[in-house]
Amino acid sequence: VNETSQPIELLVGIDRESPRTLGAQIEDQLRAAIREGRLAPGARVPSTRDLARQLGISRRVAVDAYAQLAAEGYLALRQGARPEVAATGPPLERTPPPAPPASANGAPRLRHDFRPSVPDVSAFPRAAWLKALREAVNEIADADLAYADPCGVDALREALADYLGRVRGVVADPARVIVTSGYSQGLGLVCRALASTGATTVAIEDPSNPEQRDIAVRGGLTPTRLPVDEQGARADELRADAVVLTPAHQHPTGVVLSSERRAALIANPAIKIEDDYDAEYRYDRAAVGALQGLDPERVVYAGSTSKTLAPALRLGWLVVPAHLHDAIANEKRLADIGTARIEQLALARFLERGELDRHLRRMRARYRARRDALVEALHEHLPDAEIKGIAAGLHATVELPSGDEAEIARRAREARIGLNTLADYETAAPHPPTLVLGYAQQSEPAIRAGVKALAAALRT
Ligand SMILES: Cc1ncc(COP(=O)(O)O)c(C=O)c1O
Repeated sequence: VNETSQPIELLVGIDRESPRTLGAQIEDQLRAAIREGRLAPGARVPSTRDLARQLGISRRVAVDAYAQLAAEGYLALRQGARPEVAATGPPLERTPPPAPPASANGAPRLRHDFRPSVPDVSAFPRAAWLKALREAVNEIADADLAYADPCGVDALREALADYLGRVRGVVADPARVIVTSGYSQGLGLVCRALASTGATTVAIEDPSNPEQRDIAVRGGLTPTRLPVDEQGARADELRADAVVLTPAHQHPTGVVLSSERRAALIANPAIKIEDDYDAEYRYDRAAVGALQGLDPERVVYAGSTSKTLAPALRLGWLVVPAHLHDAIANEKRLADIGTARIEQLALARFLERGELDRHLRRMRARYRARRDALVEALHEHLPDAEIKGIAAGLHATVELPSGDEAEIARRAREARIGLNTLADYETAAPHPPTLVLGYAQQSEPAIRAGVKALAAALRT
């Protein structure tokens, strides 16, 4: 059937004053019509040429909008055939998520959510990911559907080597990339590999995420503490076989490792495990390259998609020194025979097409605005607080001039305000009462309201 032989009309309008692009407006209306059943599975829709004519827009806009809807599973497009609504009906992934239960873990629902460590997952690029995933399913070779290299799919290791070299200054040969199911798995693999080659101790920054100590112990290493000050990890106190570091943005203090400390750490023979967890988010300071770029044979570089896309993906990577490669690859093989390969290929396509760059550009602007809203609101409602670590990342540390940290945490809990305090990060060091506030997950008005509520809760 000729695509244009019988024009059909469709009730789609466009508003040239709207901030939404013309293509997005067409997509929105067609999605809604299909979801609401106004356009049934199999129903014909106008050809792109007819739609462009009806709306007085360029055909390109219509073609792109249809391609997007097809990628999401709403439309079926076949060469030479009329476009129609997909026979399977609206895709499930667009179903609005159910409201969170009143109590997910027995705790009351939060009124204000400043919990750090999670990006704005509501902005997960569903359409672009779905497109990459469809491509991956279509393209994956039969051999790749069987058991294959536990270190990962070649296409992803190549795409990661390119991306990390370009964006983070990592010296990355694809042969040194090991795909993991996230940073946490990667850390465990490295600890076990180090233990198998004779290491006994690993220094962990104080403060830092508490799970790391447990992971190190499970990995057969004894964790020791490495204090952090305003220049970052105290290199002069490092006396362990290995050390876990967050050089670009210390977690959680937000301190950037100074160049003197970088040099001192590089001079120390310990194996450095670099957790580059949120370095893509930088707002008002120059890029800080990865430590790995200075000494690729003694630094294990680790990253994941948990801060850039969503923790649910469980996709991460290691770039490893040559002498540790086989030991770490062996641990990966014993752990799970390799990370899910279709998802790996999807991430490769996503990176190759520049989708991650595009997503990060959008998210950086969003997070910067949220960070600014947080800082402004803190200045207004808690003017004596000292705000730190805000040049990068997705959270701020806020030192209060007085008060008891445990009592402050209790009051925040009572007011149903989700946040962390420094005590949540396994610190042995004396410190002023300090809040760790994530700003990624709430809109600017919600951030302002949350800070106001927090200040009120602290005053009572
Ligand atoms: C300091 C730090 N590193 C890494 C990660 C990412 O861990 P994963 O990739 O296992 O989700 C997180 C997540 O919260 C984190 O806070």
